[in-house]
Amino acid sequence: MTDKPRGIANDLTHYGDADFALYLRRSFAQSMGYSRALLSRPTVGIAYTPSGFNNCHRNFPELLEAVKRGIIAAGGLPLEFPTISLGEVFLNPTSLKFRNLMAMDTEEMIRAQPMDSVVLMGGCDKTVPAQLMGAVSANRPAVQFVVGPMMTGHHRGERLGACTDCRRFWAKYRASEVNDQEIDEIEGRLATTAGTCAVMGTASTMACIAEALGMMLPGTAAIPAVHADRLRVAEATGALAVSLIGSERRPTQIITQKSVENALRILLAIGGSTNAIIHLTAIAGRANVPVSLERMNELSDTTPVLVDLKPTGAHYMEDFHAAGGMGAVLRELKPLLHQDCLTITGETLGERIESDHTQWVDRKVIASSDKPIEPWGGLVSLFGSLAPQGAILKRSAADSSLFEREGRAIVFSSLEDMARRIDDPNLDVTADDFLVLQNAGPHSASFMPEAGYLPIPKKLARMGLKDMVRISDARMSGTAFGTVILHVTPDAASGGPLGLVRQGDRIKVSVQERRLDLLVSEEVLHERRKETQSNHKPKAERGYARLYAEQILGADQGCDFKFMLPD
Ligand code: FES
Repeated sequence: MTDKPRGIANDLTHYGDADFALYLRRSFAQSMGYSRALLSRPTVGIAYTPSGFNNCHRNFPELLEAVKRGIIAAGGLPLEFPTISLGEVFLNPTSLKFRNLMAMDTEEMIRAQPMDSVVLMGGCDKTVPAQLMGAVSANRPAVQFVVGPMMTGHHRGERLGACTDCRRFWAKYRASEVNDQEIDEIEGRLATTAGTCAVMGTASTMACIAEALGMMLPGTAAIPAVHADRLRVAEATGALAVSLIGSERRPTQIITQKSVENALRILLAIGGSTNAIIHLTAIAGRANVPVSLERMNELSDTTPVLVDLKPTGAHYMEDFHAAGGMGAVLRELKPLLHQDCLTITGETLGERIESDHTQWVDRKVIASSDKPIEPWGGLVSLFGSLAPQGAILKRSAADSSLFEREGRAIVFSSLEDMARRIDDPNLDVTADDFLVLQNAGPHSASFMPEAGYLPIPKKLARMGLKDMVRISDARMSGTAFGTVILHVTPDAASGGPLGLVRQGDRIKVSVQERRLDLLVSEEVLHERRKETQSNHKPKAERGYARLYAEQILGADQGCDFKFMLPD
């Protein structure tokens, strides 16, 4: 407990007369119809992110009411405030460009407004990382709440869930296995409720990571968006936010080297999204906790994959919740976790696992650690002459017969070049080649889109080819799958060796040795370097785009902005 003023008496507007500032604020607050009794309570801010451009958050008004009643019942005054909302599929060129903007918005609004604690209401892919980044930097007591995943839809007797099935059916359509009429029917059946994508994509991965870090109520990451339990959790989150007031349970007490390692273990065990490694690195970076890809590999070697969910497995998020959810995964991983980490409830992680008495688990969805789905983690980093600072492969979503290979590079110099040529019937490409996409990384004018899942060229797709090695500095949607090597760092636009690859070069990948090498001599690369002028950087003369261009860091540093990191 501190003697600092609470509630709206906190953080007064500067008029040169503090008493007047408080008088004016109370008077204006009364204009909103609050009683003096309510206005004397401590305040809980609610970072609120509904948007007409964010389908995932469409039930936020109902959830907000539940958060508010939890706060009021616990003795607080709830005051929601809007921040930017990032609806994944509505943003051009790609949502990652705006994650740091949302993080700055969240941080500054938490800092500037008189709140004693804050509930972060997020869900869609970039919103949770942005909110956690902002909350760590602001470092007021904060608790994360997520909207939860969508329910599945149905099509001709089959279950469908955004967005692994979006991609699966689109690939069939490209291969002429599904006709125009059926692809239209499917369009209306992929995303049928409020909530985030129905599989272990980036949104659900980040929800699980937020819980593993200790920033969210236990057992809540996977509750579907439209389940009544989601409303009850919203209420409980509101009440918890009141209990945080005056406590030392601040983000920097909870997000530590150990809790970040726990989160990495969870990421690996759930076969989570490749995007999550970027986001976790950025969140941890705000707390001055480095995340090294070498350490991730060590953890990956000793963390089994336990969850059988799409895009790598068979089930959906609603099944994960019904099967035991995060509680079951944490129980299985218990010996591997740092159990002394503080969580948002005040319990340690070990106490949280012990106090969970739901012992039932559906083994079709969540495997035991002695009979795992895979003996090692879902993600692995590769290093070598093509990726000196690392690249990521989601091995659990890839075809292992392609893991030890050498191949000929088929190079696309940009997204535009790829769009122009990938389906050209005259493209010189075979199933054994490696598709290489350049200039799609964080320093490029395309702002690191989820374009690393290069489509199989139509002429090969029509022959039935489902997977081939693809390499880029781009990202991949958490809902996608394939032998796709991503986040090659440094990226091509910042002068990395990926930009020096030429058509026909040989590339060697070895997942076993964690290597990714360009088999071209240093002399040749030196000559190419002299003649390669990157004209793929963003042309940004003003505004946020300029800030981005000047400040963006590589994927290995979470694509945060340089000047947002702690000193
Ligand atoms: Fe929002 Fe997938 S579009 S989580």
